[in-house]
Amino acid sequence: MEAAKRFSQLSLAPTPFGKRTREHFSTDKDWHPLNHGSFGTFPKPVKDALCYYQDLCEKQPDSFFRYHLPELVLRARTAVAKVVNAPRETVVFVSNATTGINTVLRNLTWTPRDHVIMFSTIYGACGNTVLSIAEQHPLQVTRIQVNYPQSDQVLLDAFEAAVAEIKAKGDNPKLAIFDTIVSLPGVRVPFEALTAACHRLGVLSCIDGAHGIGMIPLDLSALDPDFFVTNAHKWLMVPRGCCVMYVPVRNQHLIRTTLPTSHGYQPLDADEAQTPAALRVGEGQSQFENNFDFVGTKDACPYLCIPEALAFREQACGGEAAVMRYCSDLADKGGAKVAEILGTEVMENAEGTLNKGLALVNVRLPLDPAQVDVSLKGGHHAVGVWIIEEQMKRFKTYAPCLWHADKWWIRLSAQVYLDESDFEYIGGVMKTLCEEVRAGRHIQASH
Ligand SMILES: Cc1ncc(COP(=O)(O)O)c(C=O)c1O
Repeated sequence: MEAAKRFSQLSLAPTPFGKRTREHFSTDKDWHPLNHGSFGTFPKPVKDALCYYQDLCEKQPDSFFRYHLPELVLRARTAVAKVVNAPRETVVFVSNATTGINTVLRNLTWTPRDHVIMFSTIYGACGNTVLSIAEQHPLQVTRIQVNYPQSDQVLLDAFEAAVAEIKAKGDNPKLAIFDTIVSLPGVRVPFEALTAACHRLGVLSCIDGAHGIGMIPLDLSALDPDFFVTNAHKWLMVPRGCCVMYVPVRNQHLIRTTLPTSHGYQPLDADEAQTPAALRVGEGQSQFENNFDFVGTKDACPYLCIPEALAFREQACGGEAAVMRYCSDLADKGGAKVAEILGTEVMENAEGTLNKGLALVNVRLPLDPAQVDVSLKGGHHAVGVWIIEEQMKRFKTYAPCLWHADKWWIRLSAQVYLDESDFEYIGGVMKTLCEEVRAGRHIQASH
């Protein structure tokens, strides 16, 4: 593994979390980065690795694509498979979670009696994917309304009731799509219990774990979902775009094509294959693995940086468990601090499961819906849009504001480069902005 030699030797000193760790990152010094959850970011040693692999490619593109790339992808898959406790042959890369969910849903075949079950909190792009497929194929969409904060049991009961209702009509609850952690608000879904329910009820489980790897421990062998995608470019500190897609061997025959279809595709009639077998078959790899190794010409270097991201987290941060513990503690303390500054509360249910172990926290904004002018186009959502614009323009920060279940919330991300003072800062910013909204500044600004 000549090509990877330099970076397997990455050697970093342990670095205290917070301001010292921030020096490892490229973020502008005057920017307050409280939104790691949307696009992630990666430290400078991982950026060096990315440049190293890109340079390696430019030196001899043909050698790189033919020889180095398959070897380096295999190295990265082997490393990430250990993190999620899955056999290497079940784990491949796609560019992002949206592509992963599209790959699963667009490979399945549908009949008019088939239902896709999804929750109202599904990530917009994934919800759109379901709707787009439903325009082209004769399937039905069953949507379950979720209003947070609610208990996990309410969600599980609603799911079982939806499955029972579909079956009672003589229809087929073919697949359920659900998150590990919802995007907005950033709350944990009881995905383990939902996966078990899917097994019990004969429903395929397609898990959107976009927020997963690097934030919470994942054991895919124990979880045993039918399909699972998780973005390494969010919480694992890998360059964009890099998403891990897990398909257990029992389901790999269902995923016939990559998106787009490329050289690894094997038509049902093998004689029709457009790409000679010699160019399709990586030694010792299954058809599923070969298929995803090369999906059209693109920059696959982000995938190759997984071992270096893991090395950074091990050496500078003290390992996966230490990163997760720090981020989850900081989200708890930071969220409580912001709630105290705003005089509100953190979004949580009675059992305390929504935020448990997460690096994300949601805090209610001190805005009474009955007293806020929502006459702008976009209504309640427009208030959040005004707030985020002001955050960026005037305060050099950003954290998504959302209107959910008749209240406004802000979602905050903890990360190893932050400490409680960063949460105090955004708490102060939000106090000012909410005062301005109450005084109607968002309306005046639009005239
Ligand atoms: C729950 C969830 N699913 C899917 C995505 C989409 O990820 P990507 O843009 O990498 O496809 C996101 C992004 O924030 C997300 O939060």
